Amino acid sequence: MALSLKYLCVLVLAVWLGLFLALQEAQAADPDPLQDFCVADTAASITVNGYPCKPAEKLTTEDFFFDGLIKEKIVDPNLSPLKSTITFGLAKHWPALNTQGLSLVRLDLAPGGVVVPHTHALATEVIHVLEGEIYTGFITNDNQLYAKTVRKGESFIFPRALQHFQLNVGKGHAVSVNFLNSQNPGIQFSTSSLFKSGILPAVLAKSFNISDQEVADLSAKITIPKGP
Ligand SMILES: *[C@@H]1O[C@H](CO)[C@@H](O)[C@H](O)[C@H]1NC(C)=O
Repeated sequence: MALSLKYLCVLVLAVWLGLFLALQEAQAADPDPLQDFCVADTAASITVNGYPCKPAEKLTTEDFFFDGLIKEKIVDPNLSPLKSTITFGLAKHWPALNTQGLSLVRLDLAPGGVVVPHTHALATEVIHVLEGEIYTGFITNDNQLYAKTVRKGESFIFPRALQHFQLNVGKGHAVSVNFLNSQNPGIQFSTSSLFKSGILPAVLAKSFNISDQEVADLSAKITIPKGP
């Protein structure tokens, strides 16, 4: 009797812990900070979940400021095969984001430019269009597409981990700033992850119902987008 009661207690505790963790999971992409800030020491040799903190006495206002989305060389998107450039503002580019649970990127799209379908396993994303017209959207786990043309001043959300994309459908340049609720959202481009990873061609031939030669032809054509 005493033994089964003990097991019951363990079971209740395990269920409670599971629920607690599940709720935690649903509330935030990144864990909450345990202090005001933890500006990353990106050169530290120890590895932790995120980055270790720079000593507070060494910080200045400049540590909390970031001009990487304008200062960093924004390559002419016309020069890239996909006619797009992605400029990243993640924790490794802006150390003050460490432990704060967010990051941002800037997209520059020449007319016809595309950001190929991709996922962020660790973050939900909002796109805010600053210039131009971008056809954008996401695909659910049931292959349902939610997509539309989003214009200057408008925003759209890509739920966490779902595949999404951007295409400049306007006549001029398109620019957006996108916000993600992780300091390090992760990015996996669907095209290059499949066709540039070196998977045995038979996997892709069967999956896409094409020949090994067609797999080779496609692999040769696909550009690997520049990651963070
Ligand atoms: C490949 O395509 C053919 C039609 O061209 C179809 O009959 C066949 O079922 C497809 N196979 C796979 C594995 O999708």
